[in-house]
Amino acid sequence: MRRLYPVHPAPDLPASPSAGPTGREAGTTGPLAPGTPGVPGTPGTPGTPGTPEDLGTLEGLAEAYAYPPGTDASAPWLRGNMVSSLDGAAHHAGHSRPLSCEADVRILGLLRALADVVVVGAGTIRTEGYGPLRARKAFAGRRAALGQTPAPAIAVVTSGCDLDFSSPLFTEALTPTVLLTGTAAPEARVRAAREAGAVVITAGEGTGVDPARAVRELARHGWGRLLTEGGPQLLGQFAGAGVLDELCLTIAPLVTSGDASRIMSGPGLDEPRRFSPASILEEDGFLFTRYVRNR
Ligand SMILES: NC(=O)c1ccc[n+]([C@@H]2O[C@H](COP(=O)([O-])OP(=O)(O)OC[C@H]3O[C@@H](n4cnc5c(N)ncnc54)[C@H](OP(=O)(O)O)[C@@H]3O)[C@@H](O)[C@H]2O)c1
Repeated sequence: MRRLYPVHPAPDLPASPSAGPTGREAGTTGPLAPGTPGVPGTPGTPGTPGTPEDLGTLEGLAEAYAYPPGTDASAPWLRGNMVSSLDGAAHHAGHSRPLSCEADVRILGLLRALADVVVVGAGTIRTEGYGPLRARKAFAGRRAALGQTPAPAIAVVTSGCDLDFSSPLFTEALTPTVLLTGTAAPEARVRAAREAGAVVITAGEGTGVDPARAVRELARHGWGRLLTEGGPQLLGQFAGAGVLDELCLTIAPLVTSGDASRIMSGPGLDEPRRFSPASILEEDGFLFTRYVRNR
Protein backbone atom coordinates (compact mmCIF):
# COMPACT_ATOMS: atom_id res chain seq x y z
CA MET A 1 0.00 0.00 0.00
CA ARG A 2 1.49 3.37 -0.92
CA ARG A 3 0.27 6.92 -0.63
CA LEU A 4 -0.22 8.88 -3.84
CA TYR A 5 -1.89 11.92 -2.27
CA PRO A 6 -1.21 14.10 -0.42
CA VAL A 7 2.37 14.00 -1.60
CA HIS A 8 4.96 14.43 1.12
CA PRO A 9 7.94 16.48 -0.09
CA ALA A 10 11.18 14.47 0.06
CA PRO A 11 13.05 15.71 3.16
CA ASP A 12 16.33 16.42 1.33
CA LEU A 13 14.74 18.15 -1.66
CA PRO A 14 13.83 21.79 -0.96
CA ALA A 15 10.79 22.91 -2.90
CA SER A 16 11.80 24.38 -6.25
CA PRO A 17 11.21 28.14 -6.42
CA SER A 18 9.49 27.56 -9.75
CA ALA A 19 7.14 24.97 -8.29
CA GLY A 20 4.31 27.48 -7.93
CA PRO A 21 0.84 26.99 -9.29
CA THR A 22 1.31 27.10 -13.03
CA GLY A 23 -0.29 25.32 -15.92
CA ARG A 24 -2.29 22.26 -14.83
CA GLU A 25 -1.35 22.89 -11.20
CA ALA A 26 -3.14 26.22 -11.16
CA GLY A 27 -6.66 26.58 -9.88
CA THR A 28 -8.69 23.74 -8.47
CA THR A 29 -6.77 20.94 -10.19
CA GLY A 30 -3.65 21.42 -8.07
CA PRO A 31 -3.07 19.92 -4.63
CA LEU A 32 -5.12 21.72 -2.00
CA ALA A 33 -3.28 23.24 0.95
CA PRO A 34 -4.07 22.43 4.58
CA GLY A 35 -6.63 24.98 5.68
CA THR A 36 -8.83 24.08 2.72
CA PRO A 37 -11.98 22.29 3.91
CA GLY A 38 -11.58 18.55 3.52
CA VAL A 39 -7.82 18.53 3.33
CA PRO A 40 -5.85 16.63 5.97
CA GLY A 41 -4.35 19.03 8.48
CA THR A 42 -7.47 21.17 8.42
CA PRO A 43 -9.34 21.01 11.73
CA GLY A 44 -12.22 18.59 11.51
CA THR A 45 -10.63 16.62 8.71
CA PRO A 46 -9.16 13.16 9.19
CA GLY A 47 -5.58 12.33 8.24
CA THR A 48 -2.37 14.21 8.88
CA PRO A 49 0.01 15.12 6.06
CA GLY A 50 3.65 14.90 6.96
CA THR A 51 3.05 12.08 9.43
CA PRO A 52 5.27 9.19 8.46
CA GLU A 53 2.83 6.30 8.47
CA ASP A 54 3.35 2.63 7.92
CA LEU A 55 0.51 1.72 5.64
CA GLY A 56 1.67 -1.89 5.74
CA THR A 57 0.43 -2.26 9.31
CA LEU A 58 -3.12 -2.18 10.61
CA GLU A 59 -2.04 0.45 13.12
CA GLY A 60 -0.67 2.71 10.37
CA LEU A 61 -3.78 2.24 8.25
CA ALA A 62 -5.96 2.92 11.30
CA GLU A 63 -4.16 6.24 11.81
CA ALA A 64 -4.59 7.11 8.14
CA TYR A 65 -8.33 6.42 8.35
CA ALA A 66 -9.00 7.76 11.84
CA TYR A 67 -12.27 9.66 12.27
CA PRO A 68 -11.74 13.39 12.75
CA PRO A 69 -10.74 14.35 16.29
CA GLY A 70 -13.78 15.20 18.35
CA THR A 71 -16.10 12.82 16.52
CA ASP A 72 -18.60 11.42 18.99
CA ALA A 73 -22.34 11.20 19.52
CA SER A 74 -22.52 14.98 19.92
CA ALA A 75 -20.62 15.51 16.66
CA PRO A 76 -21.38 12.51 14.44
CA TRP A 77 -19.47 11.86 11.23
CA LEU A 78 -20.97 9.73 8.44
CA ARG A 79 -18.44 8.01 6.23
CA GLY A 80 -19.42 5.97 3.17
CA ASN A 81 -17.34 3.13 1.78
CA MET A 82 -17.97 1.85 -1.73
CA VAL A 83 -16.15 0.23 -4.63
CA SER A 84 -16.64 1.13 -8.26
CA SER A 85 -15.30 -0.18 -11.56
CA LEU A 86 -13.47 2.26 -13.83
CA ASP A 87 -16.65 2.69 -15.83
CA GLY A 88 -18.75 3.43 -12.75
CA ALA A 89 -20.41 0.09 -11.98
CA ALA A 90 -21.26 -0.54 -8.32
CA HIS A 91 -21.57 -4.27 -8.85
CA HIS A 92 -20.99 -7.03 -11.35
CA ALA A 93 -23.75 -9.60 -11.79
CA GLY A 94 -25.40 -8.26 -8.63
CA HIS A 95 -22.38 -8.46 -6.32
CA SER A 96 -19.63 -6.04 -5.34
CA ARG A 97 -17.06 -8.79 -4.63
CA PRO A 98 -15.96 -9.15 -8.31
CA LEU A 99 -14.87 -5.48 -8.18
CA SER A 100 -12.90 -5.90 -4.98
CA CYS A 101 -9.43 -7.20 -4.10
CA GLU A 102 -7.50 -8.29 -1.03
CA ALA A 103 -6.47 -4.72 -0.12
CA ASP A 104 -10.05 -3.49 -0.56
CA VAL A 105 -11.28 -6.17 1.83
CA ARG A 106 -8.55 -5.13 4.28
CA ILE A 107 -9.69 -1.50 4.17
CA LEU A 108 -13.35 -2.51 4.41
CA GLY A 109 -12.50 -4.49 7.56
CA LEU A 110 -10.49 -1.61 8.95
CA LEU A 111 -13.26 0.93 8.38
CA ARG A 112 -15.68 -1.39 10.13
CA ALA A 113 -13.29 -1.79 13.04
CA LEU A 114 -13.09 1.99 13.45
CA ALA A 115 -16.86 2.50 13.37
CA ASP A 116 -19.47 2.45 16.14
CA VAL A 117 -22.15 1.26 13.74
CA VAL A 118 -22.29 0.15 10.10
CA VAL A 119 -25.44 1.32 8.33
CA VAL A 120 -26.58 -0.83 5.41
CA GLY A 121 -29.64 -0.80 3.15
CA ALA A 122 -31.82 -3.90 3.24
CA GLY A 123 -31.19 -4.52 -0.47
CA THR A 124 -27.48 -4.96 0.20
CA ILE A 125 -28.13 -7.09 3.28
CA ARG A 126 -30.27 -9.41 1.16
CA THR A 127 -27.95 -9.62 -1.86
CA GLU A 128 -24.60 -9.71 -0.10
CA GLY A 129 -25.64 -12.04 2.73
CA TYR A 130 -24.40 -10.04 5.72
CA GLY A 131 -23.57 -11.74 9.00
CA PRO A 132 -22.82 -10.00 12.31
CA LEU A 133 -19.47 -8.24 12.72
CA ARG A 134 -16.95 -9.89 14.97
CA ALA A 135 -14.64 -8.39 17.58
CA ARG A 136 -11.06 -8.20 16.33
CA LYS A 137 -8.23 -8.58 18.81
CA ALA A 138 -6.08 -6.07 16.95
CA PHE A 139 -8.63 -3.32 17.61
CA ALA A 140 -9.74 -4.31 21.12
CA GLY A 141 -7.57 -1.76 22.95
CA ARG A 142 -8.34 1.05 20.54
CA ARG A 143 -12.10 0.43 20.75
CA ALA A 144 -12.11 0.11 24.53
CA ALA A 145 -10.18 3.38 24.89
CA LEU A 146 -12.82 5.13 22.77
CA GLY A 147 -15.68 3.58 24.76
CA GLN A 148 -16.81 1.51 21.76
CA THR A 149 -18.42 -1.92 22.00
CA PRO A 150 -16.00 -4.76 21.08
CA ALA A 151 -17.67 -5.10 17.66
CA PRO A 152 -19.63 -2.49 15.75
CA ALA A 153 -23.37 -2.94 15.37
CA ILE A 154 -24.97 -3.33 11.96
CA ALA A 155 -27.99 -1.09 11.40
CA VAL A 156 -30.27 -2.27 8.59
CA VAL A 157 -32.34 0.42 6.87
CA THR A 158 -35.66 -0.98 5.71
CA SER A 159 -39.27 -0.03 5.17
CA GLY A 160 -40.75 -3.47 4.47
CA CYS A 161 -38.66 -5.26 7.15
CA ASP A 162 -38.59 -8.30 4.87
CA LEU A 163 -35.49 -9.81 6.41
CA ASP A 164 -34.59 -13.23 7.73
CA PHE A 165 -34.76 -12.70 11.48
CA SER A 166 -33.64 -16.29 12.11
CA SER A 167 -30.28 -15.57 10.43
CA PRO A 168 -27.02 -15.13 12.40
CA LEU A 169 -27.13 -11.38 11.62
CA PHE A 170 -29.92 -11.15 14.18
CA THR A 171 -29.46 -14.19 16.41
CA GLU A 172 -25.67 -14.21 16.82
CA ALA A 173 -24.74 -10.54 16.87
CA LEU A 174 -22.25 -9.57 19.57
CA THR A 175 -23.64 -6.04 19.49
CA PRO A 176 -27.36 -6.34 18.74
CA THR A 177 -28.30 -5.62 15.15
CA VAL A 178 -30.42 -2.53 14.67
CA LEU A 179 -33.50 -2.23 12.50
CA LEU A 180 -33.83 1.38 11.29
CA THR A 181 -37.31 1.88 9.97
CA GLY A 182 -40.32 4.17 9.93
CA THR A 183 -43.15 4.45 12.44
CA ALA A 184 -45.55 2.71 10.00
CA ALA A 185 -43.35 -0.36 9.46
CA PRO A 186 -45.28 -3.69 9.46
CA GLU A 187 -45.97 -4.41 13.13
CA ALA A 188 -45.60 -8.19 12.93
CA ARG A 189 -42.19 -7.86 11.27
CA VAL A 190 -41.03 -5.34 13.85
CA ARG A 191 -42.13 -7.71 16.62
CA ALA A 192 -40.28 -10.59 14.97
CA ALA A 193 -37.16 -8.43 14.78
CA ARG A 194 -37.36 -7.60 18.48
CA GLU A 195 -37.95 -11.25 19.39
CA ALA A 196 -34.80 -12.13 17.44
CA GLY A 197 -32.81 -9.69 19.57
CA ALA A 198 -32.77 -6.65 17.28
CA VAL A 199 -32.95 -3.09 18.55
CA VAL A 200 -35.62 -1.21 16.60
CA ILE A 201 -35.05 2.49 15.96
CA THR A 202 -37.65 4.54 14.15
CA ALA A 203 -36.40 7.40 12.04
CA GLY A 204 -39.26 8.31 9.74
CA GLU A 205 -42.95 9.06 9.91
CA GLY A 206 -44.20 6.68 7.20
CA THR A 207 -42.65 3.32 6.46
CA GLY A 208 -39.48 4.97 5.13
CA VAL A 209 -36.45 6.29 6.97
CA ASP A 210 -35.51 9.97 6.78
CA PRO A 211 -31.74 9.85 6.19
CA ALA A 212 -30.88 12.96 8.22
CA ARG A 213 -33.09 11.76 11.07
CA ALA A 214 -31.37 8.36 10.93
CA VAL A 215 -28.04 10.06 11.67
CA ARG A 216 -29.59 11.97 14.57
CA GLU A 217 -31.25 8.84 16.01
CA LEU A 218 -28.04 6.83 15.79
CA ALA A 219 -26.26 9.66 17.60
CA ARG A 220 -29.00 9.66 20.25
CA HIS A 221 -28.12 6.01 20.83
CA GLY A 222 -24.55 7.07 21.53
CA TRP A 223 -23.05 6.41 18.11
CA GLY A 224 -21.02 9.11 16.37
CA ARG A 225 -18.56 7.16 14.22
CA LEU A 226 -20.93 6.13 11.49
CA LEU A 227 -20.02 4.05 8.46
CA THR A 228 -22.38 3.25 5.63
CA GLU A 229 -21.66 0.58 3.07
CA GLY A 230 -24.59 1.66 0.90
CA GLY A 231 -26.04 0.26 -1.18
CA PRO A 232 -26.57 2.76 -3.93
CA GLN A 233 -30.17 3.65 -3.05
CA LEU A 234 -29.31 4.37 0.56
CA LEU A 235 -26.05 6.20 -0.18
CA GLY A 236 -27.83 8.42 -2.71
CA GLN A 237 -30.30 9.45 -0.02
CA PHE A 238 -27.59 10.25 2.53
CA ALA A 239 -25.80 12.38 -0.07
CA GLY A 240 -29.08 14.02 -1.12
CA ALA A 241 -29.87 14.93 2.48
CA GLY A 242 -26.42 16.53 2.83
CA VAL A 243 -25.36 14.26 5.70
CA LEU A 244 -22.66 12.25 3.96
CA ASP A 245 -19.46 13.74 5.41
CA GLU A 246 -16.91 11.54 3.69
CA LEU A 247 -16.70 9.05 0.86
CA CYS A 248 -14.07 6.31 0.85
CA LEU A 249 -14.24 5.14 -2.74
CA THR A 250 -12.20 2.26 -4.08
CA ILE A 251 -11.64 2.57 -7.82
CA ALA A 252 -11.03 -0.87 -9.26
CA PRO A 253 -8.88 -1.10 -12.41
CA LEU A 254 -11.67 -3.03 -14.12
CA VAL A 255 -14.26 -2.25 -16.75
CA THR A 256 -17.56 -4.07 -16.87
CA SER A 257 -19.82 -2.12 -19.26
CA GLY A 258 -23.45 -3.23 -18.86
CA ASP A 259 -26.16 -1.44 -16.92
CA ALA A 260 -25.14 -1.89 -13.28
CA SER A 261 -26.10 1.04 -11.07
CA ARG A 262 -23.55 3.60 -9.97
CA ILE A 263 -22.56 3.85 -6.31
CA MET A 264 -25.48 6.25 -5.76
CA SER A 265 -28.90 5.93 -7.33
CA GLY A 266 -32.29 7.56 -6.90
CA PRO A 267 -33.30 11.16 -7.47
CA GLY A 268 -30.49 13.46 -8.57
CA LEU A 269 -29.40 16.47 -6.51
CA ASP A 270 -30.55 19.94 -7.55
CA GLU A 271 -26.90 20.96 -7.79
CA PRO A 272 -23.78 18.79 -7.87
CA ARG A 273 -22.20 18.83 -4.43
CA ARG A 274 -18.46 19.38 -4.02
CA PHE A 275 -16.12 17.08 -2.08
CA SER A 276 -12.35 17.57 -1.69
CA PRO A 277 -9.73 14.85 -1.87
CA ALA A 278 -8.28 13.93 1.52
CA SER A 279 -6.09 11.02 0.49
CA ILE A 280 -5.40 8.52 -2.26
CA LEU A 281 -3.64 5.23 -1.56
CA GLU A 282 -2.73 2.56 -4.10
CA GLU A 283 -2.15 -1.16 -4.09
CA ASP A 284 -2.20 -3.63 -6.94
CA GLY A 285 -3.61 -0.99 -9.33
CA PHE A 286 -6.61 -0.27 -7.08
CA LEU A 287 -7.01 3.32 -5.85
CA PHE A 288 -8.31 3.89 -2.34
CA THR A 289 -9.61 7.43 -2.39
CA ARG A 290 -11.04 9.45 0.47
CA TYR A 291 -13.07 12.59 -0.20
CA VAL A 292 -14.53 14.94 2.40
CA ARG A 293 -17.60 17.10 1.83
CA ASN A 294 -16.91 20.82 1.49
CA ARG A 295 -18.67 22.81 4.21
N1 LIG B 1 -20.08 -1.14 -4.93
C1 LIG B 1 -20.33 -1.19 -3.64
O1 LIG B 1 -19.50 -0.80 -2.84
C2 LIG B 1 -21.66 -1.72 -3.18
C3 LIG B 1 -22.03 -1.55 -1.84
C4 LIG B 1 -23.27 -2.03 -1.43
C5 LIG B 1 -24.10 -2.66 -2.35
N2 LIG B 1 -23.70 -2.80 -3.63
C6 LIG B 1 -24.58 -3.47 -4.61
O2 LIG B 1 -25.77 -2.72 -4.73
C7 LIG B 1 -26.85 -3.60 -5.05
C8 LIG B 1 -28.02 -3.30 -4.12
O3 LIG B 1 -28.43 -1.99 -4.38
P1 LIG B 1 -29.67 -1.25 -3.71
O4 LIG B 1 -29.59 0.17 -4.11
O5 LIG B 1 -30.90 -2.02 -3.91
O6 LIG B 1 -29.26 -1.42 -2.20
P2 LIG B 1 -29.67 -0.73 -0.84
O7 LIG B 1 -29.65 0.75 -0.89
O8 LIG B 1 -28.76 -1.42 0.10
O9 LIG B 1 -31.12 -1.28 -0.56
C9 LIG B 1 -32.30 -0.70 -0.97
C10 LIG B 1 -33.32 -1.10 0.08
O10 LIG B 1 -32.94 -0.49 1.31
C11 LIG B 1 -34.10 -0.05 1.99
N3 LIG B 1 -34.09 1.40 2.01
C12 LIG B 1 -33.30 2.25 1.33
N4 LIG B 1 -33.57 3.52 1.66
C13 LIG B 1 -34.57 3.46 2.58
C14 LIG B 1 -35.27 4.44 3.32
N5 LIG B 1 -35.02 5.74 3.19
N6 LIG B 1 -36.21 4.02 4.18
C15 LIG B 1 -36.45 2.71 4.36
N7 LIG B 1 -35.83 1.74 3.68
C16 LIG B 1 -34.89 2.11 2.81
C17 LIG B 1 -35.28 -0.58 1.23
O11 LIG B 1 -35.47 -1.87 1.79
P3 LIG B 1 -36.87 -2.63 1.93
O12 LIG B 1 -37.15 -3.12 0.54
O13 LIG B 1 -36.60 -3.73 2.90
O14 LIG B 1 -37.89 -1.66 2.42
C18 LIG B 1 -34.74 -0.66 -0.19
O15 LIG B 1 -35.42 -1.59 -0.97
C19 LIG B 1 -26.32 -5.00 -4.92
O16 LIG B 1 -26.06 -5.49 -6.20
C20 LIG B 1 -25.01 -4.83 -4.17
O17 LIG B 1 -24.08 -5.79 -4.54
C21 LIG B 1 -22.50 -2.34 -4.07
